[in-house]
Amino acid sequence: MLFTLILYSIILILIVTYIVVHVKQYEYFKVRQISGPTPSYFFGHARTLWNAKSPSRQLAEWSKQFGKIYGIFEGTRPVLIASDVDFLQEVFIKQFSHFPIRKTNILTKALNRGTRIHLFNALGTRWKRQRNVINPTFSAVKLKQMSPLINDCINELMKKLPDYSEKHEDFNIYTLYKRMTMDVICRCAFGVDTDMQNNPDNIYLKKVAQVFTIDIRKMLAFKLGTLVPSLGVTLGTLFIFLNTVKQKLNQLFPSTTKKFEQFPASWIMERVDEVIGMRSDVAKQRVDLLQLMLEAASREHIKDKNDDVNDQYIAKKLTYDEVIANVFLFMVAGYETTSTALAYCTYVLVNHPEEQLKLQHEIDEYLSQNEDGKDPDYDVINRMPYMDMVIKEVLRMHPIAISAVVNRECIEETDVCGIKITKGAVIQPDVYSVHYDQELWGPQDVNSFCPERHLTKRHPLAYIAFGVGPRNYYHSHISYYY
Ligand code: HEM
Repeated sequence: MLFTLILYSIILILIVTYIVVHVKQYEYFKVRQISGPTPSYFFGHARTLWNAKSPSRQLAEWSKQFGKIYGIFEGTRPVLIASDVDFLQEVFIKQFSHFPIRKTNILTKALNRGTRIHLFNALGTRWKRQRNVINPTFSAVKLKQMSPLINDCINELMKKLPDYSEKHEDFNIYTLYKRMTMDVICRCAFGVDTDMQNNPDNIYLKKVAQVFTIDIRKMLAFKLGTLVPSLGVTLGTLFIFLNTVKQKLNQLFPSTTKKFEQFPASWIMERVDEVIGMRSDVAKQRVDLLQLMLEAASREHIKDKNDDVNDQYIAKKLTYDEVIANVFLFMVAGYETTSTALAYCTYVLVNHPEEQLKLQHEIDEYLSQNEDGKDPDYDVINRMPYMDMVIKEVLRMHPIAISAVVNRECIEETDVCGIKITKGAVIQPDVYSVHYDQELWGPQDVNSFCPERHLTKRHPLAYIAFGVGPRNYYHSHISYYY
């Protein structure tokens, strides 16, 4: 009892001291004459965002009240919410060297001290080095080579659809898309050929789905790390240590208790590690991403010189741990995004039969020219302008994966459009307000589905469904109009 009382008193004293020291931080936007909703002490606006059904929608609500640039706080960290495209262009493109990273959390810095770090979280020259090696694996030539793998998975899905249509029963196409995209990713990323689409209990499918069911925003360690950033690295290290312990216990006592179940991320990485161990010289014929990365892998320690992303002399190598982490990233980054995009496309097309017919005509036209009866490949799809516009318009109206990924943290004090931004501050685009800005997307009504609006050249920052700037490179072949 006494111990608990002392513990609570210490925590209370720490919190009060913290508030007193940081209270000044809440003046951050006032001194810059930037408006915003009133913060509550200690939490800032974090509680509102944690409780919001969709944080991205919450930002759009605030934008209606406070305009195109306003300020909020996550704990005491200042976050500038922007839907002013010139301001965003400055941050994401022109001043990229001041904003080369996404918003850091308790894991970013702790993970960067370790070896299993992937592109999404990598900082400084480590990110630049990884991009140098991985960019060529996403070239048009390599993607073309993967077309047969992708077509096999699509054909598997197509075999199932007549059954559903004959039965005249409702079914959830999103579930089928999820299985199909995971099938594509497992084959293209690391050559694992499973019967995933016929086996809903497939373990890879389950583990990757679990990565998304864990909402890290709601975990105590993450919440604490947001409110008290100085605890960040310690909490992150503890978090990783705990998972390693669980992993070891899991290996020692398999199937004893669910409590020891390791995090799905490390389960997946272990499997990738096993696949690497089984790869022999024969595998060199493969064209999957794992093989392409392994060709640039080194067993030696790679030392990244400094934090300057503009450094010209960066090694063109990856460590084996980085290969593993990146295969995991492709599985996670490609799965939820692609299947959700396909589900939205289906939903929108069902509700717009005219556009659906137009798209069908375009596809039929290309297929009728295809005399040898081969499945359409990368080149054929690239020659379907209406298809491209439909996908863009669907993702303009229903952008996915946005507020958590499209943001930047300042690493060095700078001035953006007359606003002084300090190290550690975050710039968060309000994607909904940008995508639904009548001035940027008119003259057609922004609330109506109109693929043709993408024939007009727009502001380079008007479309950010795939993010923008050097950290979005992978999708640049998709959004080539902008
Ligand atoms: C409809 C499908 C997809 C959407 C909407 C989407 C969206 C996004 C967005 C918004 C970002 C953040 C970009 C930024 O910060 O500027 C991102 C980053 C990323 N995406 Fe995707 N994505 C999709 C598919 C994929 C696929 C299929 C892969 C790989 C297999 C992938 C791999 C990545 C990677 C590696 C990054 C991080 C790049 C870096 O930080 O250097 N994405 N994606």
